[in-house]
Amino acid sequence: METKAIVLAAGKGTRMRSSIPKVLHKIFGVPLLGYVLNSLQDLTDEAFVIVGHQSELVEDFVNENYANTKCILQNPQLGTGHAVFQAYDELKGFKGEVIVVCGDTPLITKSTLKSFIDSHRRENVSLSVMSAIFENPSGYGRIIKNADNLFEKIVEEKDATPEQKQVKEINAGIYCLNWKDVCEAFSQLQNNNSQGEYYLTDIVSWAVKRNLSVQTWVLDNSNEIFGINSKAHLAQAVKMMNRRSIEKLLDEGVTVVDPETTYISEQTCIGEDTIIYPCTYISGKNIIGKNCSIGPFAHIRGEVEIADGVKIGNFVEVKKSIIKGNTNVSHLSYIGDSELGEGVNVGAGTITANYNPITKTKSKTVIKNGANTGSNTVLVAPVVLNEGARTGAGSVITKDVESNKLALTRAPLKIL
Ligand code: UD1
Ligand code: MG
Repeated sequence: METKAIVLAAGKGTRMRSSIPKVLHKIFGVPLLGYVLNSLQDLTDEAFVIVGHQSELVEDFVNENYANTKCILQNPQLGTGHAVFQAYDELKGFKGEVIVVCGDTPLITKSTLKSFIDSHRRENVSLSVMSAIFENPSGYGRIIKNADNLFEKIVEEKDATPEQKQVKEINAGIYCLNWKDVCEAFSQLQNNNSQGEYYLTDIVSWAVKRNLSVQTWVLDNSNEIFGINSKAHLAQAVKMMNRRSIEKLLDEGVTVVDPETTYISEQTCIGEDTIIYPCTYISGKNIIGKNCSIGPFAHIRGEVEIADGVKIGNFVEVKKSIIKGNTNVSHLSYIGDSELGEGVNVGAGTITANYNPITKTKSKTVIKNGANTGSNTVLVAPVVLNEGARTGAGSVITKDVESNKLALTRAPLKIL
């Protein structure tokens, strides 16, 4: 059966107090919306992102990064039910399942979404709602069951009676719908509630009234539906994601000396017996080999490939670069848009000057196998140090250096 997704991302996110849309705030270099769209990949054939507030920025991000994903404008934003209704025309005649998720819950995993969809299929229901049990359910919609313990409706906190507020099973805000069974609900929703909004949650009672089958599916790890509404939430989510990522790496045989001060994105793969020293920050997508030594105080910024046995030492920043086996960048360097061969030794303070502020372009630095740079070398890209080439300490290298030659631009020493 075909599966499509609707991602709700039109809300303003007032509490972020920010000039950029909420779903574009980043964790480890990836926008919140990116995490949600990544976890939907391979599970769905097509996704619709409902955009509203600063829609152009969100659309640019989606169009640049995701195929089979279309943005639909919701203007004005009249509630979550109204948001889903914006995809009604796009889904005309669609006979498959629609999974609805929010764009501000970056911790949701693909495996959870898959189990949820699997359960929806297995139980053969028209509508599944993901729920969670919270000791403190305040702020969430409550799952209301009838005397026979059958799922009856969802009541928002603001509309709940004191008795309903006691319910600890909450609506996680993720739904799986058999579109042809429930799509008509969206044109019939009412906004006679305390917020004057068209609630997506009202489709449960709509379906129950029509004798359609509905279920709740309880999420084990409720961290996954943690939603971001403020900068404090964003900081909490970074911690949660980081803990998850480091626990996985520890299981995979990576030594993380101090998980408390180390940050590693979930999109970073690291080989066995690599040691990550304290105060290291690794964001974006990276591959790091076995038996490497990284940090303390290293910064790896994404699109970095590091082979086995490489040393990245203190105060070294690496971005969009390939570093081959047994190469050392031990102290105080910036390596960006570069390719370093095997057995290279990068002297302390070596900088790849990759950006030309006049042309506003970035260029590549290549350091081939066995080449060495002296301390405080500046490599002005585009530039190549061929096999076995060397540079003298303090040199500014603006031309390619031939194999096994020494390049030196240092002014002669005068002692007066
Ligand atoms: C919603 C649920 C609540 C659930 C909670 C889980 C409803 C009515 N309530 O509440 O039961 O417990 O999520 O987190 O659905 N959005 C739009 N367009 C709109 C309104 C919202 O795209 O017109 C988007 C928001 O950007 C956000 C998502 O929908 O990503 C959820 O909206 P939000 O206002 O946060 O709903 P909650 O009050 O949290
Ligand atoms: Mg919310």
